[in-house]
Amino acid sequence: MKIIKVKLGERTYEIIIGNRILGGLGKHIQRLKIGDSAYIITNAFLKRKYGKILISALNKNKISYKFRLIPDSERSKSIILASCIIQDLVGFDKNKRVFIIALGGGVVGDLAGFIASIYKRGVPYIQIPTTLLAQVDSSIGGKTAVDTQEAKNIIGAFYQPRLVLSDISLLSSLNLRQLRAGLAEVIKYAAIENRQLFSYLEKNHQKILSKEKKSLEFIVSRCSAIKAKVVEKDEKEKKGLRTILNFGHTLGHAIEAASNYKKYNHGEAITLGMLIAADISIRLKLLKDSRILGRIEKLIFKVGLPIKIKGISLRSIIKSHYHDKKFRGTKNRLVLLKDLGKVKVVTGVPLEIIKEALKKRF
Ligand code: GLY
Repeated sequence: MKIIKVKLGERTYEIIIGNRILGGLGKHIQRLKIGDSAYIITNAFLKRKYGKILISALNKNKISYKFRLIPDSERSKSIILASCIIQDLVGFDKNKRVFIIALGGGVVGDLAGFIASIYKRGVPYIQIPTTLLAQVDSSIGGKTAVDTQEAKNIIGAFYQPRLVLSDISLLSSLNLRQLRAGLAEVIKYAAIENRQLFSYLEKNHQKILSKEKKSLEFIVSRCSAIKAKVVEKDEKEKKGLRTILNFGHTLGHAIEAASNYKKYNHGEAITLGMLIAADISIRLKLLKDSRILGRIEKLIFKVGLPIKIKGISLRSIIKSHYHDKKFRGTKNRLVLLKDLGKVKVVTGVPLEIIKEALKKRF
């Protein structure tokens, strides 16, 4: 078991990483004194799979609970569903000290965190991420949000959880595509911050894809530690430091949006975004060693993530990229590579260069 602290003054919390640790949840709730009644937001599949362990962990510590099931879809991240859930939560919360548990992937975590941030002007919440992507990224750092039809994550707040419990055994129910999507974010961390982690992935990606527990625990711990450090330095993304976590995301989001969030999932889209960003870095002479793009491409290919764009047009990607939240006025802002493990945020990358790099992915 590994414990990583996210040090944020009075909002400090722990990320606990280990195999089969869900059963010990009750004692952490008691230790943290966050309440006596858990409102658990999850989906039907996860309740069936892990509900019993969770219930027994809560019963052991005399914590009452209620499950609220939501559809397993990005469409669940809506203000309308959030409002329905809050009405239900009001019904549950009679003379209780309520807190929220998010048992799920990014959708559950973002929605539950958003509700926790606004209900009674903020109640405690715990993240129990069940996907690799959520364990290494979305459960950490307090970004909570719901979408509108026009834009993803457009309504939300920074609101930190009181605990992140990353139980590696919960990853056993992931299919290969979901696992790969999480690996895309792991490759991102390696590329921006940690070249040793990159070499580790080059050697051990097969073990990870076969869900070997030790390698999963290793990558979740490494990535959580990297994310914790970045969030500590720039919790609310005001200093331009947290922005580095968006390597591959500007064009990745554009690809996701251009495909109507259907053809490519988030991990697959940011994989393509990272390749384009690395290519732009070479074109701008920021990345001197062009072999690095080759190494990233080879790793992505071996993992089984896409290296070419199919089924969407270049024009639609360019159009979508103008909606990126990282835009500063009329200027785009991209996270680019200086070396493996080193990045620079660059504003106003010429459109021609973006187009050239994009073309190479078709
Ligand atoms: N996923 C990017 C961030 O948390 O800042």
